[in-house]
Amino acid sequence: MNLLSTVSTGATGRTTPLELQYRKGGTPIVCLTAYTYPIAKLLDPHVDLLLVGDSVAMVLYGHENTLGATLDMMIAHGQAVMRGAKDACVVVDMPAGSYEHSVETAVRAARRLIEETGCSAVKLEGGVDVAPQISAIVRAGIPVMGHIGLQPQSVEKEGGYKIKGKTDEDVAALIRDAEAVEKAGAFSVVIEGTIERVAADITARIGIPTIGIGASVACDGQILVIDDAIGLTVDRVPKFVKEYAKLRDMVSDAAASYAGDVRSHRFPESAHVFGLKAKGA
Ligand code: KIV
Repeated sequence: MNLLSTVSTGATGRTTPLELQYRKGGTPIVCLTAYTYPIAKLLDPHVDLLLVGDSVAMVLYGHENTLGATLDMMIAHGQAVMRGAKDACVVVDMPAGSYEHSVETAVRAARRLIEETGCSAVKLEGGVDVAPQISAIVRAGIPVMGHIGLQPQSVEKEGGYKIKGKTDEDVAALIRDAEAVEKAGAFSVVIEGTIERVAADITARIGIPTIGIGASVACDGQILVIDDAIGLTVDRVPKFVKEYAKLRDMVSDAAASYAGDVRSHRFPESAHVFGLKAKGA
């Protein structure tokens, strides 16, 4: 493990990747995704880390998968989240196509994300296959979060969302990936859509924090997509999601009430309109 490979930005008071790395085995690390200024501002007091995930392509833009995310999209949403979050460590996802092809393009894309958003770290998907990219980005002074197990950017290649760790070969590959990501200098690693026992074993095996999503309570932290967590997801809700609110129903009920008020001339009321002040008042 290379603790000095992650940059500390503690001078701003914001939680740093290095602080999170040291939380291995301690109080679980609380992470959520965020894509916009108001949501970042609301979540900031409650979380350790906000991820501007490439899930933004599905959640906000209605794409079928995360392959619709672009570097410019990630930068725009990263900037919005940085304006809203003052304390959380903000990590921005590297979208598909921005890092797999060469170490040079990976470092260039990671630099753009850091310089143009001011975020603290980047995240990329893969294990052994992207270890050279992780090492190079870390050497460039940029903290990296890994992402192993189910990798949404590979969904087309794999023919769907496939849970990982069901066979001995798969488990061995997952362990190789986790160890490669750690060795390359990542400060933490997301484990997604992986058999519970396997995610717990990997957590015990490696020296950097594991952040679970559809993985295990034994992981060093947990992450959910914010729209899933607040019940705003309008399409498929994955099995691993716990909905902490039902905003879908609230939004729909509010729109129905508003429509009723407008159509029956009950809105606007006197409190919502402007009159001229009486003279001398
Ligand atoms: O893009 C994303 O939201 C993610 C999380 C699900 C970990 O990668």
